[in-house]
Amino acid sequence: MPAVSIIDAVYRHLLKRFLFAQDAERAHRMTLRMLAAMPAFGPPRDKPELGIKLWGIDFPNPIGLAAGMDKDAVAIRGWETLGFGFAELGTITPRPQAGNEIPRIWRVPERRALINRLGFPSEGMEAVAPRIERIRKAGISIPLALNFGPNSDTPPEGIAADYIALLARLGRLADFIVVNVSSPNTPGLRDWQSPEKMRELFAAVGEHAGESARGRPVLLKISPDLERNEMFRICDTALALGLDGIVAGNTTVARAAVGVPSPHPGGLSGPPILIRARELIRDIYTHTRGQIPIIGVGGIASAEDAWLHIRAGASLVEVYTGLVYEGPGLVVRIKSGLADLLRRGGFRSIGEAVGIDR
Ligand SMILES: Cc1cc2nc3c(=O)[nH]c(=O)nc-3n(C[C@H](O)[C@H](O)[C@H](O)COP(=O)(O)O)c2cc1C
Repeated sequence: MPAVSIIDAVYRHLLKRFLFAQDAERAHRMTLRMLAAMPAFGPPRDKPELGIKLWGIDFPNPIGLAAGMDKDAVAIRGWETLGFGFAELGTITPRPQAGNEIPRIWRVPERRALINRLGFPSEGMEAVAPRIERIRKAGISIPLALNFGPNSDTPPEGIAADYIALLARLGRLADFIVVNVSSPNTPGLRDWQSPEKMRELFAAVGEHAGESARGRPVLLKISPDLERNEMFRICDTALALGLDGIVAGNTTVARAAVGVPSPHPGGLSGPPILIRARELIRDIYTHTRGQIPIIGVGGIASAEDAWLHIRAGASLVEVYTGLVYEGPGLVVRIKSGLADLLRRGGFRSIGEAVGIDR
């Protein structure tokens, strides 16, 4: 039995029951500690047809870890071992901050969903940098994306300086960078999605970010709650600014519209947002005529889910909530399911399937 299958069986039959008896945030901390302590037995070898090249970077497979799971980059080797094709670490803020008050993560088990209003708890860039440096020195077989966000007490006129500080300190350690302007849990952050604010932000970043991030692809992570025309204007602005990709999307503040009436505030994730995420991916792909790569994220809990995000226009996909409910073997299951779906559909590679359902 391959090592990942053993981990998965242990998770599904023992660990999940134990973790779900804890409050969600404690369970998350324990999971990260276990992953960080897990022996690295080398990533499973991927079928060549699952590989994809974007921005000159080779991804062994298109399944990535979504931001928020490993905010402080403490379990990087674990993500490689579980078979991810890349990992997006963060959101990292410049200075350490505690985030919102607890409780701030809730499970919605009947929908296999989560709601969070974490507000970027982060150990800050100076704590994260040496961890990534160590991994880089030792060697890592998967691309690492770093997701950046501002501190919550930074005033609006200081937001650009926060991103600039992050790019200057961590840019050279990233294979690509995600500028997160779409968390619903940092007041005012989502305003930076407007084309005017985007232009202001990226003009400042372009002028002052310095050498560290030079040549690194920069992607924008957007919200699924954007009004459609606004989203199109954001895509046009991203193209005009020469951004390298769009991560679509973050958690939603919608509730009744996705059938999850809930007393908890914050961002909803998991299967209830699957269809909305796919619409967003398809709209972006169609509107931009496939000119800007999309990382599709939202609600993925199976190979079929990932496949339909890819067919809607995503070149890469990411998972978070699915891992919590389906277990760490989800990555391997999605990959083997995708290989089957490719073969049955007569595709020779993932790249051939991107956007064919637009
Ligand atoms: C507990 C939790 C924390 C998250 N933290 C972040 C974050 O720090 N930065 C970010 O860009 N997205 C964050 N996300 C959003 C995820 O990256 C992803 O966009 C969203 O959960 C949808 O994917 P999913 O349905 O597979 O979970 C978080 C999600 C969850 C559930």
